[in-house]
Amino acid sequence: MQHFLDLAGWRSEEIRELLDLARFLRLEFKSGGNKPVLRGQTLAMIFQKPSLRTKVSFETGMNQLGGAALMLGPDEIGLGKRESIGDVARSLSRFVQGIMARVFAHEVVLELAQYASCPIINGLTDSQHPCQALADVLTIQDHLGRVEGRRVVFIGDGNNVAFSLAQAVAHTGGHFAIATPPGYELSEDNIESIAQIASANGSSFEAYQDPVKAVRDADVIYTDTWISMGQEADSARRLQDLAAYQVNTNLLKYANRNAIVMHCLPAHRGQELTDEVMDGSHSVIFDQAENRLHAQKAILVKLLA
Ligand code: CP
Ligand code: NVA
Repeated sequence: MQHFLDLAGWRSEEIRELLDLARFLRLEFKSGGNKPVLRGQTLAMIFQKPSLRTKVSFETGMNQLGGAALMLGPDEIGLGKRESIGDVARSLSRFVQGIMARVFAHEVVLELAQYASCPIINGLTDSQHPCQALADVLTIQDHLGRVEGRRVVFIGDGNNVAFSLAQAVAHTGGHFAIATPPGYELSEDNIESIAQIASANGSSFEAYQDPVKAVRDADVIYTDTWISMGQEADSARRLQDLAAYQVNTNLLKYANRNAIVMHCLPAHRGQELTDEVMDGSHSVIFDQAENRLHAQKAILVKLLA
């Protein structure tokens, strides 16, 4: 039984297969509908944090594949409070065929996987967002033809989205660069994981402080919120520390002429990126949101069908 917890747990070849499957399912869906390959199956969706895209794309994705999804919000099951994580996993496994979880500590999805007898999908933890990253490389392929050899530059906080994106770009042969202020870098462990994946695929990783230096020759400019869910108490300091890392038309001038701009959403217009960039001709942000659906359907079919 396979889980989808960390892109380091998947071989690059399997990631490429997932991307092919996502494209197939997208075409099938747009040509009249998907075959109900998950008929009779239910996905439980555990949310300790809010969501728009993850909730809606997993639920509609399950429906389109003939299955169903069950929403379990933060107040419903009291994961680890009302009941231990292991007991939640063991009980849920008797009712459903898969569990998607959005939680704070990454260890929670690892513990769910330890005790569940069905696949666990990581729908975002404090340190990773692998479903997002799979949709992101699919979007880069859609717009630039391939990830291989492309320069993908992340600007801002070295957060969960940045780490999973770097792993996904490493799996698909791209060159990843990140520009962060001091104190917001990816961790040494993260960099080691990225480097390990990159070495097998001719990919590279670079870290900068200066966003202008990082963005030179960029094919993709990617940003995310400066205040991730759970960091609200630290907002004032983060806004100040990251103020010079805004993706705006001035920064875009240093990238390749046809560079695309990406953001996992939700965006904070006027903070990490301007309206002008978000609504401008380089932005592929809502294609990226749509690709959550197609990428996750591939994960669901691979793990549950
Ligand atoms: N990008 C993303 O995961 O969006 P939600 O937080 O709305 O699910
Ligand atoms: N880094 C953000 C991503 C939201 C989808 C967060 O963790 O809140």
